[in-house]
Amino acid sequence: MSDHHFDANATIEWYDRYSDKYDEDTFQQSDDNYGGDLYRLKLIEKLLPELGCDTVLDAGCGTAEPLLALLRQGLTVRGFDFSPGMIRQGKNKLLENNLDPDLIEVADVTDEAIVDHFGRNSFDAVVANGILPYVEDVEKAHTNLSALVKPGGYYISAYSNELLDLSTLNRFTVAFHKRNFIDPLPIDQESSAALLGGIEKLITNPDVPKNIYKSARNEIYLRADNPLTIGNELKKFGLHQIDILFYKYHAFPPLLSELSDEFKKIFVQNSRSYEIERAKDWRGYFLASTFIVVCRKD
Ligand SMILES: C[S@@+](CC[C@H](N)C(=O)[O-])C[C@H]1O[C@@H](n2cnc3c(N)ncnc32)[C@H](O)[C@@H]1O
Repeated sequence: MSDHHFDANATIEWYDRYSDKYDEDTFQQSDDNYGGDLYRLKLIEKLLPELGCDTVLDAGCGTAEPLLALLRQGLTVRGFDFSPGMIRQGKNKLLENNLDPDLIEVADVTDEAIVDHFGRNSFDAVVANGILPYVEDVEKAHTNLSALVKPGGYYISAYSNELLDLSTLNRFTVAFHKRNFIDPLPIDQESSAALLGGIEKLITNPDVPKNIYKSARNEIYLRADNPLTIGNELKKFGLHQIDILFYKYHAFPPLLSELSDEFKKIFVQNSRSYEIERAKDWRGYFLASTFIVVCRKD
């Protein structure tokens, strides 16, 4: 959960500005650049053939890096994104690879016109990888995207993991306790404030971090969801959770990676050791910042 209110234009502008740096930050890996979203792509590359999918819609396709990888696997893929800057990068990339730039286009996932445009019940799988954390009216997005999946097909959607905040032991942990454990208690404001003050005292760093390295969370609206309840929330869209996969692990509280450059490397190396192989490990519920839910449509 970020500190910012939803503003679609701010998100579009942010991604437009960021579009030429996006691939480098997201998919390139080094000793201190985790490149954790590459694992989201690797998980999808493995999953879609396992599920027997051929036709795929990539919602929030960004710079089309994932779409290109899926095309190379022989899948039939289209995509859309509401940032013209990201789509421009993607179209250039498709052209450089002698592929049709019209495979991707500018569209908003909350606009119901996308259902008729892309075709109701027409894809073996709809993938929403990294887009939903930026969407406030997520019910609208689920309604539109699930309508595009063929009956018996798959809705594969990624979320920010709200539960990670419990293990970071910082201001996000305090905010998690407030939102989920203290605010719902039937007590008066004074007691609630006293409890919150107590929680802050129990945590050594209740005010940090001010910024998260290279994160949209610093600047625009970003929602987080609960991996324990999301399957239930998706049922009303005719979707049934069949799997959950975690990625972007935090092997220990990220604040500790700031102890030294050596610890930064240890953090990245050990966090990576969880990826793919342990995508279904129970620790993911608490240590991964992101997760993919695989649902079958009725
Ligand atoms: C984290 S990026 C993910 C891009 C790509 N799926 C990937 O895995 O690299 C999120 C993308 O969602 C797009 N997005 C956010 N809200 C959207 C909306 N309402 N409609 C369409 N695209 C949206 C952003 O413009 C951005 O390109």
